[in-house]
Amino acid sequence: MKGQFPLDQFKNLDTPFYYYDTCLLQETLDTVKLQLKGQDQFKVHYALKANVNSEILQMIRKNGFGADCVSGGEIRAAIQAGFKPENIVFAGVGKSDWEIELGLDLGIFCFNVESIPELEIINELALNMGKRAQVCLRINPNVKANTHANIATGQAENKFGISLHDLDKVMECVKQLKAIDFVGLHFHIGSQILDMADFRALCNRVNELLDRLEGRGIRIPHINVGGGLGIDYAHPNRQAIPNFESYFDVYDTHLRIRSYQTLHFELGRSLVGQCGSLISRVLYVKEGTNKKFAILDAGMNDLIRPALYQAYHKIENLSSDEALEAYDVVGPVCESSDVFGKSIDLNKVSRGDFMAIRSAGAYGEVMASTYNCRSLPNAYTSDEFI
Ligand code: LLP
Repeated sequence: MKGQFPLDQFKNLDTPFYYYDTCLLQETLDTVKLQLKGQDQFKVHYALKANVNSEILQMIRKNGFGADCVSGGEIRAAIQAGFKPENIVFAGVGKSDWEIELGLDLGIFCFNVESIPELEIINELALNMGKRAQVCLRINPNVKANTHANIATGQAENKFGISLHDLDKVMECVKQLKAIDFVGLHFHIGSQILDMADFRALCNRVNELLDRLEGRGIRIPHINVGGGLGIDYAHPNRQAIPNFESYFDVYDTHLRIRSYQTLHFELGRSLVGQCGSLISRVLYVKEGTNKKFAILDAGMNDLIRPALYQAYHKIENLSSDEALEAYDVVGPVCESSDVFGKSIDLNKVSRGDFMAIRSAGAYGEVMASTYNCRSLPNAYTSDEFI
């Protein structure tokens, strides 16, 4: 069993597939709970967009976390996994009418609303249904996060949230809408953030806003600071639990929340990223003009992060202990960007070897596609291998 993978049992399975280590997931959840201990004001909602594997969802729910959903499909997945409606928040810049109606019908905790037109539609649909909608306003805090441009969300140029300049107008609108109950503010500056200074900058911006609104007698029971805590993709072993201590400490130290306020987090990647690997077989080793290619049976349709964000994922040859050699590790898809890593040192690779592409538990399986008429990857949890 190399690197704690049940290789013998992998031999009976078709590749590629995602493999989720539930022991590591449980340890990660335990670490979060340990850090939150004694902080009743802090609530964590799991961002389902990172991974909707039903066993993973149930584990997260059983550990007492809520659900952060961005579509009607995710709300259904959360309900199916046993999350209670009152622990579900619904975010997203473009909610369809049926998705809003689903949330209203279930009585979810709140809608994170991103514009006046959206507020008006939620109000109209709620009135039609004889319901009330709790809303948090998603504010674009204009805080730059040090991450890939495609996953930064909190600057003025991004489509997300209500501009700070429009906040007064939106608060006025909220007051006029009969079926809307304002319950708080929502922020999210981006994903895969490892520099705590970025979260500190968000705290400062939120403090300014709270002073401004509370100075006018507006009560803000809930503050939701989104997710974004990054993981170490280069970590040498799989026991790579993110630094939740310093993450929560930033908010504990720098955000001035009052005793009646609840602070919500929407963590995705940091909870599930490290527990997943994409397991693939080597189809061919090909000698190129000046390099060697290890051609896998997994492609960019199974894990698109390297192609889409130039993301690094550690790759390991599970089947070989022979001397290291450099390979470009590529998939079978007809695109030059179907590359998992260039000049990667791997134990000598042969046809049939099992390769693990690590730290693929977040935004891996959920972003898979059938491009090139390929099948979607299977998924197994470690519980299935005894
Ligand atoms: N809350 C909101 C409003 C979000 O937009 C996101 C992620 C999260 C929470 C969870 O963020 P996390 O804790 O996972 O960083 N596909 C990209 C990541 C996209 C993130 C989108 N929003 C990737 O593979 O890196």
